[in-house]
Amino acid sequence: MTDLIPGLPRDPRHDPVLRSEVIAALAIAPGERHVDATFGAGGYTRAMLAAGADVVACDRDPDAIAEGQALVAEAAGHLTLVHGRFGEIDRLLAERGIDAVDGITFDIGVSSMQLDQGERGFSFQKDGPLDMRMAQEGESAADWLNRADETEIADVLFHYGDERQSRRVARAIVAARPLTRTAELATVIRKALRHPPGAPKDPSTKSFQAIRIHINSELDELVAGLSAAERLLRPGGRLAVVSFHSTEDRIVKNFLRERSGGDAAGSRHRPAPIPLARAATFETPARKIRPGKEEEARNPRARSATLRSAVRTAAPAWHGNSGPDSSMKEAMSC
Ligand SMILES: C[S@@+](CC[C@H](N)C(=O)[O-])C[C@H]1O[C@@H](n2cnc3c(N)ncnc32)[C@H](O)[C@@H]1O
Repeated sequence: MTDLIPGLPRDPRHDPVLRSEVIAALAIAPGERHVDATFGAGGYTRAMLAAGADVVACDRDPDAIAEGQALVAEAAGHLTLVHGRFGEIDRLLAERGIDAVDGITFDIGVSSMQLDQGERGFSFQKDGPLDMRMAQEGESAADWLNRADETEIADVLFHYGDERQSRRVARAIVAARPLTRTAELATVIRKALRHPPGAPKDPSTKSFQAIRIHINSELDELVAGLSAAERLLRPGGRLAVVSFHSTEDRIVKNFLRERSGGDAAGSRHRPAPIPLARAATFETPARKIRPGKEEEARNPRARSATLRSAVRTAAPAWHGNSGPDSSMKEAMSC
């Protein structure tokens, strides 16, 4: 299988993580309708189009939508680009007369395009305004860091960045306010963690990730997106989720475990679960897939990626579109 639509140029800006594995999990039949919930630079969308799918792709970043217009033209009627949050993907599709699809894919997190542009404020390696907003609206990282109290900042760094020294970093941030630039924030974090200049692993990585997840409400979005996918997928439809953080992966794992009844055997470390009150909406999820050594060497970002996938059953969705359910909220809780 080729990765690209014949005749379409390869996009050199983006090397999508686990692309072949995602496409294999989606098992696309020509003419099927698939949703790429995180369009980014369109790497997955191109591969879906090449496999013969009609694609509806969504992104909350207006730049991704603007840059994708060239692909819309090239795809000659087989691609629709939608600006919005995937937490509302069922509403966004309903507005376009679509209420069921054959596949939905999420590639959670920040794109290379966003990271590479210093002025978007996502990177500790490129100086820029302390922004980090994917949708380019709402409260920026600077707004939040300059108003939140020390405990709130420490909790975010700990829970969304696994930063063990979160209190020390939060104290240093509060003492250095007001902060306006990414380079300033990175310097404050490195000093707080007594990072020797030139040492290999930059200690700001974890805090930048945590602040970005918080500013973009990424975990709430993931929970809402999974529920929306459950409502949208036809019987036999495929769900694929690539995540980059242990908390995100736990949300996906718990969702699929619960919805597939995969917990039924329990484990010797856990009490036997209460039998499923509702019919399983996903068939036994596939084992999680991690990138191979070759992909990790080619693309360092792939090192933390995990793919989970599953097939929709014919059972009704467990929840309407009134918001996330309690078990998923529990997986997210700090
Ligand atoms: C990792 S990139 C996707 C890369 C893409 N798979 C590709 O091949 O180019 C994630 C993209 O999802 C978008 N995104 C993240 N959270 C979103 C959300 N809740 N709703 C819509 N788009 C979102 C980001 O703006 C970013 O462009």
